Amino acid sequence: MPHSTANSITVHKIQAPAGSTYDIGAEIRGANLENVSDADFEVIRKALYENNVVLFKNQLPLSPRSQYELTRLFDPPATGYGHGKTLDAKRSVLHPDLKTIPHQPQVQVIGNGSVASFEGLENIKLKHPHHKAFHKIAIGPEDDRDNTRFYRWHIDAALYDLEPPRVTSLMAVKVPKTRYQTLRYDDGTGDKLQVPRGSTAFVSSYKMYDLLSEEDKEFARTTKVQYAPHPYIWMSSSRSRSDGLGIESDGLELDYSELPPIDESKIKVLPMCWKNPVTGQLALQIHPSAVQKLIRADGTVIDDLKEVREIVHRMQRPGIAPELVFAIDWEEGDLAIFNNHGVLHTVTGSFLPEEVRIFRQCNMAASSPPLGPEV
Ligand SMILES: [Fe+2]
Repeated sequence: MPHSTANSITVHKIQAPAGSTYDIGAEIRGANLENVSDADFEVIRKALYENNVVLFKNQLPLSPRSQYELTRLFDPPATGYGHGKTLDAKRSVLHPDLKTIPHQPQVQVIGNGSVASFEGLENIKLKHPHHKAFHKIAIGPEDDRDNTRFYRWHIDAALYDLEPPRVTSLMAVKVPKTRYQTLRYDDGTGDKLQVPRGSTAFVSSYKMYDLLSEEDKEFARTTKVQYAPHPYIWMSSSRSRSDGLGIESDGLELDYSELPPIDESKIKVLPMCWKNPVTGQLALQIHPSAVQKLIRADGTVIDDLKEVREIVHRMQRPGIAPELVFAIDWEEGDLAIFNNHGVLHTVTGSFLPEEVRIFRQCNMAASSPPLGPEV
């Protein structure tokens, strides 16, 4: 009896709830992620670049190896983890949050609580990043269980030496029972948002660009962003704004003499706008905590750190308005892949030590720089 072997992969746009207007996120059904056919990958890639975050449900059996292979399809020559070995640096702000899977070093374990054994890691203690470790002013202990912040809006990227990964995949392996928290911006606007505890929040950097004035769009298309050398060590003593969108300028960045040796040729200067390879849209894509200087089209350099941050924050803040935030309500087995060149994302929430949560994160330093606006 002949049976149909027709492709059954389908893409379903995630509907924003009432009051939200974001237009990112799609669920992909019917894909075999253990063995992705060329035809299925074309559908997945197009869906990724059109929706910027794609979600596959019920993927718990997917091994770290398969997660790596799937993630690498977006950039086949890329083989090394997005941060290289820089996580080893104890002073990096990323150091406490990520543990490398020994047999698949491009895949990191993140989460919360004590785990006896997971993928070759024994007796690990995971710690969900809490905003009080990074924000200048934290929510008080009495309000901390029911309220949270955006921890740190970012692009997944070393931003020194290595190129920003094209995509990141995130697998929810273990998710404690959640209830909603109130996410507070605490920036004087009164903005707030209900989010599932431990949600990963995403915003579209294309929307962020579209919201700019024509004058700012021109500035964005023609300006380059210079990142600090060893940015995650450089920023390790500084503290974030309450909206998680960049750092307060209190002069707390480490002096160059306190950083590992700096190779000038490895300092990253990237366009402020990155082009979507499928839709051609421009994203305003800046890592707000790691930015150090802005280089204008005429070669003028804006190097006053406070001024640089004020400019970047003024341009980015409209794009993280509550109605534009897609906050994933994780379920065990969810695998998300996001366009790391077209969204900003951040962890949210806080957990008690006994609330065990395990995620696997994978990305690779890209084989080429992001597409600038002129290509
Ligand atoms: Fe990230």
